[in-house]
Amino acid sequence: MMRRGSDTAWLREASLDFDRFVDDRVGVRQRWGVPTELLWFASAEYYIGSVVIRHQLTEDEGGGHIGYHVVYPWQRQGHATQMLRSALGKCTALGIARALLTVAPDNQASLTVVRRNGGVADGINHEGELRFWVDTSASA
Ligand SMILES: CC(C)(COP(=O)(O)OP(=O)(O)OC[C@H]1O[C@@H](n2cnc3c(N)ncnc32)[C@H](O)[C@@H]1OP(=O)(O)O)[C@@H](O)C(=O)NCCC(=O)NCCS
Repeated sequence: MMRRGSDTAWLREASLDFDRFVDDRVGVRQRWGVPTELLWFASAEYYIGSVVIRHQLTEDEGGGHIGYHVVYPWQRQGHATQMLRSALGKCTALGIARALLTVAPDNQASLTVVRRNGGVADGINHEGELRFWVDTSASA
């Protein structure tokens, strides 16, 4: 999870050889033992944030299908809401009819993002996160 003041060591790796940094991340990659894809969002030269889509749920369903962050200067401008909407559209194309989202109960911003995208509550997972299902066809 990325928060204000979080680790930025990855920026150094990216700046040393950006082409390689991108090559290592582009396309469908195994992460957490399942096929995943990273989407980066930018406005001109500014990095806004990213979304990870798990094409399959992990065995314990931790993290659900979709995770996201928006970097601090771009928060509270509706970006995450739109980014999740785009990711849900991509899920439809991947054949994921219902996407699972998991959110820490104290993460008000993310709870708003998920609810604005039609998230329907479904209990709590083993990490104490709230689970939500989203009908991805509603975002198409
Ligand atoms: C959660 C996160 C992605 C939201 O990004 P964002 O681009 O600010 O989201 P949006 O602008 O679409 O905001 C959704 C709503 O939550 C509100 N919100 C944003 N930050 C908030 C905060 N810290 N506390 C309460 N509400 C907040 C926004 O104001 C907005 O409501 P509004 O339109 O009525 O103002 C961002 O805060 C973040 O990257 N957090 C760290 C990583 C993270 O928690 N990822 C999600 C894991 S499930």
